[in-house]
Amino acid sequence: MLDESSDTPPIVRPVVSWRAWPFAALVGILVLAPAARAQRQPPASVVASADSPRALVDQYCVACHNDRLKTAGMSLQTLDFAKAGDHADVLERMLRKVRSGEMPPAGRPRPDAAAASAFTAWLENTLDLSAAAHPNPGRPAVHRLNRAEYSNAIRDLLALDIKPGAWLPIDDSGYGFDNIGDVLSTSPALLERYLSAAGKVSRLAVGDLKLKPAVDTFEPPAST
Ligand code: HEC
Repeated sequence: MLDESSDTPPIVRPVVSWRAWPFAALVGILVLAPAARAQRQPPASVVASADSPRALVDQYCVACHNDRLKTAGMSLQTLDFAKAGDHADVLERMLRKVRSGEMPPAGRPRPDAAAASAFTAWLENTLDLSAAAHPNPGRPAVHRLNRAEYSNAIRDLLALDIKPGAWLPIDDSGYGFDNIGDVLSTSPALLERYLSAAGKVSRLAVGDLKLKPAVDTFEPPAST
């Protein structure tokens, strides 16, 4: 009578193993991730020959691209391949020229296909690794205030609750939002509206005590 175990519904087991699924998936990811990362590393042969780019460049390029001749405004004579990431722009151009077969120029001694492709593979890997190590997300767009933000800024800074944003054209919106810096464009016409709004705001904020009320006189046309 006290033994209730026989009444326990067998449903418990399936539930436990169902819950274990995400855990198993997580373990799987943890196991696979280092393998995936290892795959992205350049092949060992390319890394091991880190000074072969120097040898190839000395043999096939430096005759023209040296400090004295600077053919095409570029010297490869002292380019430090160990700090290749610092010369990513030069490496990028070398990669393009060598892969397309444009360099060395036709008729000049050139590396055989295997050496050339090992060289371009090294360039590509080096560029990829240095780009991954120092990602360059670019610059954020200068974020101009939208109409509501402009009104709020004027209210907070100058204690003028006059909603000057309403004097500006409707803001561009992106993805349903009107405060995305990349979307809020600035045109000459908009800048003019901003300036005229700013003129009104500053007159209201500072005031000019020397101004007299303007007087206009309207006279009926003289009857003849
Ligand atoms: C016989 C001389 C000569 C040799 C050898 C030579 N180049 Fe050039 N290189 C030139 C000339 C001339 C130009 C400019 C004309 C052009 O861009 O095709 C040039 C242009 C380039 C440019 C473009 C520069 C730029 O500002 O866009 C790159 C990159 C380049 N060479 C890389 C190499 C590499 C790498 C090698 C060796 C594999 C090499 N060159 C071998 C003569 C040479």
